[in-house]
Amino acid sequence: MVLVSGSGTNLQALIDASAEPDYGAEIVAVGADRDGIEGLARAERHGIETFVLRTSQFDDRAAWDVALADTVASYDPDLVVLAGFMKLTGPAFLGLFGGRTLNTHPALSPAFPGMHGPRDALAYGVKITGATLFVVDEGVDTGPIVAQVAVPVLDGDDESSLHERIKTSERAMLVDWVGKLARHGFHIDDRAVRLAGDHT
Ligand code: GRF
Repeated sequence: MVLVSGSGTNLQALIDASAEPDYGAEIVAVGADRDGIEGLARAERHGIETFVLRTSQFDDRAAWDVALADTVASYDPDLVVLAGFMKLTGPAFLGLFGGRTLNTHPALSPAFPGMHGPRDALAYGVKITGATLFVVDEGVDTGPIVAQVAVPVLDGDDESSLHERIKTSERAMLVDWVGKLARHGFHIDDRAVRLAGDHT
């Protein structure tokens, strides 16, 4: 299961990877919090079921969170990947899918959490930033880290050029690790994400 809010290039990378028979994961559905986005169009072009749950359809965020949890549960996924999903999931969702929901953040956690990782990295003046794949918890980009990839900040970068460079590495990391986690299974030991069996 993949949840998106935008262009869906991370989703596309997962769609392409899951076309390989040995990848170990298939996408049972794609959900979104808004209509008319390229992420949904990508899923539809590949014949993947989609759904949209806008927060404005519900009385409050808690009701939206319950509906999201119920809808995702109806597809019975093993893993949920937030691929540019721009809403925080709440207690109902995490009650069902905590510990098996992954997200990526376009910065090297714990630096620059929140909506503007590339912008904040540029403003701070760091020379290396990157992307972080983590298991979602109730915080903002705070969950146990699965993997990170470093990306240089180059002279002349603006937010867009830096974010695009980060996204190239982010997609490769996401595809690699979603496959590994799906094929092997995993558990979380304190904050360490460990593949099941011996894969050290
Ligand atoms: C990614 O950089 C993700 O980390 C951030 O938003 C971007 C989503 O890109 N939260 P896309 O929609 O997968 O192209």
